Amino acid sequence: MSAELLEGAGVAQAIKDEVAAEVARLAERGLHKKEILVPGLATVIVGDDPASHIYVSSKVKTCQQLGLYSEKIELPANTTTAELLETVASLNARDEIDGILVQMPLPSQIDSTKVLNSIDPSKDVDGFHPVNVGRLALNEPGLRPCTPAGIIEMLDRSGIEISGARAVVLGRSRLVGLPLSLLLLHRNATVTVCHSRTKDLARVASEADILVAAIGRIGMVDAGYIKPGATVIDVGINKVTTISDLERFFGDDAGRRAAFEKRGYTLIGDVNPRGATEVAGHFTPVPGGVGPLTIAMLMKNTLSACTVRRGGP
Ligand code: GUN
Repeated sequence: MSAELLEGAGVAQAIKDEVAAEVARLAERGLHKKEILVPGLATVIVGDDPASHIYVSSKVKTCQQLGLYSEKIELPANTTTAELLETVASLNARDEIDGILVQMPLPSQIDSTKVLNSIDPSKDVDGFHPVNVGRLALNEPGLRPCTPAGIIEMLDRSGIEISGARAVVLGRSRLVGLPLSLLLLHRNATVTVCHSRTKDLARVASEADILVAAIGRIGMVDAGYIKPGATVIDVGINKVTTISDLERFFGDDAGRRAAFEKRGYTLIGDVNPRGATEVAGHFTPVPGGVGPLTIAMLMKNTLSACTVRRGGP
């Protein structure tokens, strides 16, 4: 069997096009009613972690492309919890800001939980606030975490049936595994959540029609974890930095070797792509699978926060 790739770029573009069309409609309505209604996203970044700066820049750029207002707040690495709480409080108080995203991870002196919990739940476009986690658990309307919500969009738009499927989620993190398992459950999948203490992980995983790997272990999920024909969603992002791993995971793939030689590494998820290609029915490549969906869903959440807070069309 040779699995079909589920590439995120097309789905992400479709979501972004829908957001841009809706943002344009809100602006048009504003012209008629003489009110300005532009969804606004504030991103807050603390310190100078290069990867975080790249992520935040691409969030700002996507806002600009889709017609959303965006504001980037950069704070020094020695910012205190109290100072960051003050920044969040001032964003909570501004009506034109619909979404607040504090980029993670934060420097170690900052109490991340306190900061995340201080964001107004109606502006919590990450969906990390306990109020939104509770709404998700109860299947009530609320803002959902972007990566898990993007995975559901991808399954739906790729015609993969969730209802009645046996879903196994490897990982129970606050960002991905836990919220995704709840979203799948509310869509009537039969869900098993696995973690570091799960016994006989490969056997449990190989019962899945939909297998999600979100554990942060380089290429761990191989053919023995995958039921023939299953849909495999790979949320991991790891770097392959040695020739032996390059060969183990990518064989004689010339494109991967060229990328590795150019940059000194190539990206891989939690799934061994050779195993997935042989056994799965569909799988998400890394890079280019789940990755592009997160920002698209952030834009969708910001639009949704705007229409809920300031009145829908
Ligand atoms: N850092 C990596 N991914 C994310 C995300 O989805 N939201 C936030 N706030 N920080 C992140």
